[in-house]
Amino acid sequence: MQTIVFSNHKGGTGKTTSCLNVAYALIEAGKTVLLVDCDSQCNLSQSFAYRPAEGKTIGAVLLGQASLSDVVEEVGEGLYLIPSSSNLSEVEERISKKPGAEFALSEVLEEVEEIDFCLVDTPGGLGKLTYAALTAADAVFIPAQPEYYGIEGLVGLLEVCQQVQKRLNKKLKIGGLFFTQYNRNDRRRAQRDMVNLLETHPLFGPLVMHTTIRPNVSLVEAQIEKENIYNWAPQSAGAQDYQALTTEILSRL
Ligand SMILES: Nc1ncnc2c1ncn2[C@@H]1O[C@H](COP(=O)(O)OP(=O)(O)O)[C@@H](O)[C@H]1O
Ligand SMILES: [Mg+2]
Repeated sequence: MQTIVFSNHKGGTGKTTSCLNVAYALIEAGKTVLLVDCDSQCNLSQSFAYRPAEGKTIGAVLLGQASLSDVVEEVGEGLYLIPSSSNLSEVEERISKKPGAEFALSEVLEEVEEIDFCLVDTPGGLGKLTYAALTAADAVFIPAQPEYYGIEGLVGLLEVCQQVQKRLNKKLKIGGLFFTQYNRNDRRRAQRDMVNLLETHPLFGPLVMHTTIRPNVSLVEAQIEKENIYNWAPQSAGAQDYQALTTEILSRL
């Protein structure tokens, strides 16, 4: 199993949307996928009709109060989910007090069998759960909106990934950074300047991916309707962009 984490300490950059739609693109390609929702906002979990029973969530597994098989639910053909719950922030605080908290998720995922890809959605901020996700990952991908003031934050995020790589998880690959809600023909000056800056930046240049995810309402609608984008609007820009992104992600693993 290859574990891929979508991370950006900033909220609203497309982490959850990317996790969900890359999963659907992988399913389309005949792969099996486990989604892990590590955000107490539960947006990824809410993208499915399934509602977990009390205590059947990622928090319970991280605390050792439930087993993996208790919490994994099949939410589509070949698609599995470990849902989150609103008390996950408290769980994060509790596990943070124990030694080796960064390894909490990788220990859980070691037990997973017969799954091709595990995709982990992370919360905003850079807390212990994000460290745990990076520690469990084979690769991290960063969805980012091209906003000029975002670059300092991205440098900080990259440093965290590099520290995790050095101290906690030598196999972690910093897979790439892709722009969300952005079109390469975008004429807005500030956005284009930011993209140019990152593409020519010594650290970020090699990480910037070719694919961008255009603004697309079908992605929003499909998520609200709890539908797979490849059934809901297979010809949409969102479906096409996530297909291209998935191909590019696989080429960078
Ligand atoms: N390509 C897109 N086009 C239009 N809306 C999008 C797109 N990607 C994300 N969104 C919307 O933007 C908001 C933030 O995206 P989300 O994936 O939840 O970000 P994050 O998980 O990083 O906080 C959501 O309301 C989502 O539906
Ligand atoms: Mg999210």
